[in-house]
Amino acid sequence: MVVHHSKAKQLLTVLLAATLFIATSTQPVSLSNCQETCGSVTIPFPFGTTKGCSLDSTFLISCNQTSSNPSPFLLQTNITILNISLNGELRVEWPVASDCYAERNKRLNQTFQELNLTTPFHISSSRNKLTAVSCDTLGILGGFDSEGRNYTAACLALCNGLDDVANGSCSGAGCCETSIPRGFSSVTYVSQTVFNHTGVVDFNPCGYAFLVEDGGYHFSSTDLIKLEKMEYPVVLAWAVGNQTCLEAKKEVSNSSYACKAENSECYDSPEGPGYFCNCSYGFRGNPYLIHGCLGNKYF
Ligand SMILES: *[C@@H]1O[C@H](CO)[C@@H](O)[C@H](O)[C@H]1NC(C)=O
Ligand SMILES: *[C@@H]1O[C@H](CO)[C@@H](O)[C@H](O)[C@H]1NC(C)=O
Ligand SMILES: *[C@@H]1O[C@H](CO)[C@@H](O)[C@H](O)[C@H]1NC(C)=O
Ligand SMILES: *[C@@H]1O[C@H](CO)[C@@H](O)[C@H](O)[C@H]1NC(C)=O
Ligand SMILES: *[C@@H]1O[C@H](CO)[C@@H](O)[C@H](O)[C@H]1NC(C)=O
Ligand SMILES: *[C@@H]1O[C@H](CO)[C@@H](O)[C@H](O)[C@H]1NC(C)=O
Ligand SMILES: *[C@@H]1O[C@H](CO)[C@@H](O)[C@H](O)[C@H]1NC(C)=O
Ligand SMILES: *[C@@H]1O[C@H](CO)[C@@H](O)[C@H](O)[C@H]1NC(C)=O
Ligand SMILES: *[C@@H]1O[C@H](CO)[C@@H](O)[C@H](O)[C@H]1NC(C)=O
Ligand SMILES: *[C@@H]1O[C@H](CO)[C@@H](O)[C@H](O)[C@H]1NC(C)=O
Repeated sequence: MVVHHSKAKQLLTVLLAATLFIATSTQPVSLSNCQETCGSVTIPFPFGTTKGCSLDSTFLISCNQTSSNPSPFLLQTNITILNISLNGELRVEWPVASDCYAERNKRLNQTFQELNLTTPFHISSSRNKLTAVSCDTLGILGGFDSEGRNYTAACLALCNGLDDVANGSCSGAGCCETSIPRGFSSVTYVSQTVFNHTGVVDFNPCGYAFLVEDGGYHFSSTDLIKLEKMEYPVVLAWAVGNQTCLEAKKEVSNSSYACKAENSECYDSPEGPGYFCNCSYGFRGNPYLIHGCLGNKYF
């Protein structure tokens, strides 16, 4: 009896392992014979690291294999990719802009930051905030959408002393944040002093401004002393082509329609032209691949 019991247990373990193996081995991520990861980042189709592995040249990603810790970049830029999500989002990281004073009225240096994106990327307006940290700064962000129209966003951070601010609170005292307009493909941001750091330079020599994923920054009073050379995650929206779902489905040759999997659905991009695909309710996987969406029983 005891022997049988353990045999049954063994068999069950083997069966479970086999099921798990099937589930993972049949879940497609990339086209066959294509690189599925770069370092710790998964590269799902329509993205790819070589021609023929991506949907088109705009979805090509470079992977620095020479480094001991390989990491992916947006093609021909030094924009590091943190991860790629199939629901039309991609996370990168970008540095803070700073404005530093040696003493009242005496500026040491001021840096601005520029983030230039190309098709098919936009800076997600719903997932990021312009944030400024200082006792005396106006965080200003200006940018262009893919049609060349320009917009700005700004917020003001002030305080008289470290007692004025509260950790975790970013509503104007030492820290401010604001939403950004929809559809930016390139932005420039800067931290600009208002009162030349008069009266605050001892505990707050610099002002900082940065773009950060909503919820990706928690203010601490210690950041008023130093936030130099930090980088924060920024969420980019990506989409396929420049048509709506309706237009793409209507194409005479439907072969360009990117939602290849049965049981997939099409969504218009919320940030600009184009669309993205999703597996239908009850299915998971990669909707851009033929047979890419599998029923939940496989998971
Ligand atoms: C790749 O990584 C190596 C080592 O970290 C570095 O020297 C090189 O500049 C990187 N190349 C690119 C294109 O980023
Ligand atoms: C990217 O490269 C440009 C020029 O090569 C440089 O000015 C900029 O500081 C770099 N940005 C980052 C985030 O490394
Ligand atoms: C991307 O990174 C974030 C934060 O590190 C993590 O929560 C999320 O699960 C990651 N998503 C994917 C698809 O890897
Ligand atoms: C500004 O100057 C200070 C003091 O020399 C230095 O520590 C800091 O790194 C500089 N900041 C930038 C962004 O160059
Ligand atoms: C960003 O685009 C602007 C305008 O096209 C250009 O002047 C600037 O050099 C670009 N910056 C970077 C870092 O590529
Ligand atoms: C922004 O757009 C306005 C009106 O279209 C134009 O007058 C202005 O020069 C633009 N600003 C920049 C920085 O291109
Ligand atoms: C905020 O937290 C830091 C430690 O993370 C602490 O040193 C600092 O005193 C706190 N500031 C306030 C205003 O509570
Ligand atoms: C800030 O400093 C500049 C030059 O150092 C000066 O022209 C300006 O009046 C000062 N502004 C304030 C508000 O003190
Ligand atoms: C849409 O994209 C196609 C292919 O990339 C291009 O030929 C066409 O000019 C674009 N149309 C518009 C309105 O941007
Ligand atoms: C995509 O499908 C998944 C699973 O059904 C769902 O959780 C997710 O909200 C969908 N995304 C969008 C943008 O509809």
